[in-house]
Amino acid sequence: MNVQTYTPFPFIMESAKGSWVYDKEGNKYLDLYGGHAVSLLGHSPDALVDAIEEQGRKLYFYSALGNIEIRDEAAKKLISFANCNLKKVFFCNSGAEANENALKLALQKTKRDKLIGFKGGWHGRTLLCMSVTDDPTWHASMPKWFGPTDFCTLNDKSSLNKIDEKTAAVIIEPIQSMSGVNVASIDFLKALKARCKEVGAWLILDEIQTGLSRTGVPFVSSIINPDMATSAKGLASGYPLGALLMSDEIEISSGDLGSTFGGGPMAMAALSATLSILPGADKNAALVEEELRSGLKSPILTEVKGKGCLLGLKLTKKAKDIQSVLIEKGFLTGTSGDPFVLRLLPPITISKDEVRLFIKAFNETFPLAS
Ligand SMILES: Cc1ncc(COP(=O)(O)O)c(C=O)c1O
Repeated sequence: MNVQTYTPFPFIMESAKGSWVYDKEGNKYLDLYGGHAVSLLGHSPDALVDAIEEQGRKLYFYSALGNIEIRDEAAKKLISFANCNLKKVFFCNSGAEANENALKLALQKTKRDKLIGFKGGWHGRTLLCMSVTDDPTWHASMPKWFGPTDFCTLNDKSSLNKIDEKTAAVIIEPIQSMSGVNVASIDFLKALKARCKEVGAWLILDEIQTGLSRTGVPFVSSIINPDMATSAKGLASGYPLGALLMSDEIEISSGDLGSTFGGGPMAMAALSATLSILPGADKNAALVEEELRSGLKSPILTEVKGKGCLLGLKLTKKAKDIQSVLIEKGFLTGTSGDPFVLRLLPPITISKDEVRLFIKAFNETFPLAS
């Protein structure tokens, strides 16, 4: 029996194409969630499916022992797309794995043992990731397994004095998605970078949700130039892939990093195709945000949070209930750690007409405050 880890949408999913998901009964849903922020380019873009098919016939799998050109090409493409100080990349299989390796390397290389996260931060389900995730239930459940960790407060510069000479690394999401779409200001991220530099701690930007143009810029790292950044989710448009991007100054020795599946040919083909499609599509993220901000008008909506295609609707009603009503109307959205924030993570390829369909349905479905 498959272990059910989430409450699934109340229908049997059959297929998906572009911004739309279809169920077994032939109903269609505009997908403003993308299976946890993964379908960045919509479902099954033709160029991606073609690339995977071609690669599958040529060389389906070999581990990093196999010296394959597509891995080097994809790495070069990703580094060039990120366009910042991060010039080395290690490929793995998920966001948590990328973060775990980033944190582990920081502990090993700095020879310090304190890690810093942020209140409201979320970084994955492996042990080091959990230790820098602000989830008191996790922390209470196995305190001995989490080393010295502390949490600063987003956009509060005075909290940065928790970062000291004992700190190996600080990890932060430029936009905290899970906890309700809270944006770190660029000014704050720059102050954080300066504080890390001052005490010799590494700064890791968790760009697992914010990267790849979802917020309108390729990576926030291109503005901040951290020591490391992590990416996953839409990186290979749904093919499992995580990446740890590192500054040239970080020396990697044999044995520091490794993965059986990481950098496999299929994931590399999917990454390469994703990065070929992205440059034309990235401008749309800002337009989608503009359209939603100006069009959504309902008394239950008090604020639109976030940037580009990573938005949170702050509501006067429980997001879970609104999500259920929207599913009945043919729209998939996401909830968050804040019971009153409904998340919208549409593909950056979504059309204006599709966005307007959602706006019309939302405004007409919730015309009253109660
Ligand atoms: C910001 C952030 N970091 C890390 C992760 C973990 O990624 P994965 O589920 O691929 O391990 C997630 C997943 O939701 C995330 O949103």
